[in-house]
Amino acid sequence: MSLRRTLIITAVFAAMALTAAGGAAAADQAAAAGDLQTIVLPAPQTSGGMPLLDAIRTRQSRRSFAPDELPRETLSTLLWAAWGINRPESGQRTAPSARNRQATDLYVVLAEGAYRYDHQAHALQPVAAGDLRALTGRQDFVQSAPVNLVYVERMPEESGDPQLIWAGSHAGFIGENVYLYCASAGLATVVRGLVDAATLAQALHLPAGHRVILTQTVGFPGS
Ligand SMILES: Cc1cc2nc3c(=O)[nH]c(=O)nc-3n(C[C@H](O)[C@H](O)[C@H](O)COP(=O)(O)O)c2cc1C
Repeated sequence: MSLRRTLIITAVFAAMALTAAGGAAAADQAAAAGDLQTIVLPAPQTSGGMPLLDAIRTRQSRRSFAPDELPRETLSTLLWAAWGINRPESGQRTAPSARNRQATDLYVVLAEGAYRYDHQAHALQPVAAGDLRALTGRQDFVQSAPVNLVYVERMPEESGDPQLIWAGSHAGFIGENVYLYCASAGLATVVRGLVDAATLAQALHLPAGHRVILTQTVGFPGS
C-alpha cells in the first residue's frame, strides 16, 4: 500500500475514533452550547503574508492585549494557519502529527462562548455558551484578550511517555504556527502552560481521556 493511502486511512480511523469517544460528551457540549450557533468561517488567506524569515526574526511572546475582537477573516486565517487542512487531496494539516493521527483538537474561547475548530468544515462548532476566558489561564490578560486557543489531545487509554511527549509536540507545532502567523499579521500572542487544566476540561465538557495540553492567547497588541 502506498504511503499516501496509508496516511489517508490512518486519518479516517482517527476521525472515527474521535466520533466514538465523543458521543456522550458531544451531547453535553450541545446542551451547554445553548443558543450559540455554528460559525462558518470565511475562506482563509493561504498565500502571501510576511516573508517567512522576517516572521521568524520578529516572533515573540507578548502579554499585553487590546480588548478588540479579531475580524472574522483574521480569525479564519489564524485557525487555518494553526491547524487547518493544507493538502485537501489527503486531508493533511498545517502542522505535523505522530503517525498522522491528528489527535489534537483546537478549542477557541471567545467572549460569547467556547467552540471547537472543525477543520473539515472550516467552522467553529459551539461547545459552551458564556464567557470562559478567565478559565483559560492564571494570568489576568486572558480575561480580556479576544481569543484564547486551547490545545486538547485525545489521549489513548494506555498513555505513557511517548504519547505525552507526542501530545506536547503536537501542541508545540500548532502553537508555533500561531506565533508565526501572529508575527506576520501584527498580532500579539503568548503560549501558556499556567492553566488549571482539569477545571478548563470540565468547563469545555471534554470527553474522558481528552487532555488540555497548552493554551495560547491571541489579540491585537495592547498599549
Ligand atoms: C510550554 C510553554 C509554556 C509556557 N507557559 C507560559 C505561561 O503560562 N505564561 C506565559 O506568560 N508565558 C508562557 N510561555 C512563554 C515563555 O515564557 C516565552 O516563550 C519565553 O519567555 C521566551 O520568550 P519569547 O517567546 O518571546 O521568545 C510558555 C512557553 C512554553 C514553550
